[in-house]
Amino acid sequence: MEIIRILFLFFFVVFEIAFLSFAVFVLASGFISQAKGAPYVPLPKKSIKNILKFAEIENGGDFYDLGSGDGRVLIEAVKNFRVKRAVGYEISPWPYWKSRFLIRYQNLKEKIDIFKEDFQNSDLREADSVFLYLYPEAVKKLIPKFKEELAFGSRIISASFPIDESGKLDLKLIKTGKIDRFNLFLYEKI
Ligand SMILES: C[S@@+](CC[C@H](N)C(=O)[O-])C[C@H]1O[C@@H](n2cnc3c(N)ncnc32)[C@H](O)[C@@H]1O
Repeated sequence: MEIIRILFLFFFVVFEIAFLSFAVFVLASGFISQAKGAPYVPLPKKSIKNILKFAEIENGGDFYDLGSGDGRVLIEAVKNFRVKRAVGYEISPWPYWKSRFLIRYQNLKEKIDIFKEDFQNSDLREADSVFLYLYPEAVKKLIPKFKEELAFGSRIISASFPIDESGKLDLKLIKTGKIDRFNLFLYEKI
């Protein structure tokens, strides 16, 4: 009887430690996301297809998600929009590792690259379309990169917020729309 009690106690303690470590990991990830530019609030899966339709990404080009969360937008782009390559930058550990798992699980490793890095360090020279679902302050900090690195004719899709002063930044607003509760803004580099 004593041995069963000890075993039960042992597994209980192991379970508690694992659970608490995971909770701390997820909480710390949340703080990192918030501090770096936007909280980890993934788009609802049901909205993504229509948002990508709005973004007109079916051109076989390279699609980037800056702050790619658990990779759901990249996965949808590769699976249903025939993009050539999808690239994500995600700073926060929990969504990053989740996206790695989901991409591997769905056998999409050949078509999707995820970098666990600040998107300020991204290289956008190959991008045909860039997707943003971020706070306006975070987008503002990206503007010098857009100016310097984005090729003419490449596109930016911003969900929820317009890009401030886009007119002065060689970005032409192509169209706006609303899908579910998301305001959408599609720009082209001119
Ligand atoms: C609102 S979520 C969007 C997630 C995903 N794009 C989607 O639509 O489902 C914003 C993501 O950006 C990430 N993020 C915030 N600042 C970042 C930074 N400086 N570099 C890379 N990722 C960042 C957050 O961790 C979070 O996962």
